[in-house]
Amino acid sequence: MDYAMCWTLEVGGDYRHSQASRRMLSGVTPAYQGTPRHSVLRVENLSVDFIRGGLGLHAVRQLSYEIGVGEAVALVGESGSGKTVSALAVLRLLPSRTARVSATSIDFDGNDLTRLADSELRKLRGYRVSMVFQDPLSSLNPLMTIGQQISEVLTTHLGLSDSQAAVRTQQLLDMVGIAGHSRRMRSYPHEFSGGMRQRVMIAMALACRPALLIADEPTTALDVTVQAQIMELLANLRKEFGMAVLLITHDIGIVAGFADRTLVMYSGRLVESGPTENVLAHPRHPYTLGLLRSIPRVDRNRRGELPSIRGMPPNPYDAIPGCAFAPRCAWAIPQCHVSSPALEAVGTDWAAACWVKPNEAV
Ligand SMILES: Nc1ncnc2c1ncn2[C@@H]1O[C@H](COP(=O)(O)OP(=O)(O)O)[C@@H](O)[C@H]1O
Ligand code: SF4
Ligand SMILES: [Mg+2]
Repeated sequence: MDYAMCWTLEVGGDYRHSQASRRMLSGVTPAYQGTPRHSVLRVENLSVDFIRGGLGLHAVRQLSYEIGVGEAVALVGESGSGKTVSALAVLRLLPSRTARVSATSIDFDGNDLTRLADSELRKLRGYRVSMVFQDPLSSLNPLMTIGQQISEVLTTHLGLSDSQAAVRTQQLLDMVGIAGHSRRMRSYPHEFSGGMRQRVMIAMALACRPALLIADEPTTALDVTVQAQIMELLANLRKEFGMAVLLITHDIGIVAGFADRTLVMYSGRLVESGPTENVLAHPRHPYTLGLLRSIPRVDRNRRGELPSIRGMPPNPYDAIPGCAFAPRCAWAIPQCHVSSPALEAVGTDWAAACWVKPNEAV
């Protein structure tokens, strides 16, 4: 499969306003910048469309964010909001045949990924930046033992000899809590449980001590107890390695206690971003509030119903003139249906893209 990505300076037709004309419509001049930080990843104006049968599916729309060195950031939103596609676009892992990607810049660890040669980018992937996916079984090679797969990362990226790689593999398995190394190293992925496979994927991802780990729904396929164990493991390893983590999840319930900052995506756009404790305790975007109210809690819903967000996200093929959340929003005002709000500061390093910004506690 050809994973090279197609870069275009500007993609799409007249389905969306240019940033400048949107600002004119919204009356907001400066784009929200956030607090400057020493960042490992800085994404500016990333958009991704998939072209199918002459139509453009707008998966990611003008997404900008930063991850500081050693910082844990959560990217949350319902399924289909563009979380995975945005991460794959950053790493240039989308199919060039159908994906049209544009960005002002994507700076990772001092490299502009929009300009880096494919060969250079391949060296960074799995070395300075690694990714862990929801389904470890499909990411692991069923024909190679666990030991061979971890060792391969070490020999390829770090140039270790086979015997050095074997020693380091044992250390890595230790680190992710897999006991009985010598037997485990000779096992095949199908002999491991889902939680164990995810531990192996984390060991592989951390083998080269990356500056950034992207964990895409790393616990979604696991039961609640194993989910908590994997989140704890990730939190501990992050501190130990001093690496940054981008945790991608549809479940805003797991970000507390893990992420320093939380970014909320809806329909391809960033709608709220801020310190996790602020976003969770006093969300300023109605969609964030809806996500939080959808989390099952023992102290409410006695009659069994889950308060979820009514309605469905918009069709990603459609042009959206106003706020994409307007058809589902209890706070919508007429302006919401005609003009799209830009991110505006609502506190220190905290922003929301909403005309109303209701101030409701969860
Ligand atoms: N390879 C692809 N080709 C076409 N459309 C895609 C592809 N991958 C994802 N999409 C579409 O892009 C949108 C965003 O998807 P995704 O980033 O996977 O959502 P999330 O990770 O937030 O659940 C969805 O509408 C999805 O159907
Ligand atoms: S801009 Fe309007 S429709 Fe969109 S979230 Fe805010 S209040 Fe709701
Ligand atoms: Mg996803």
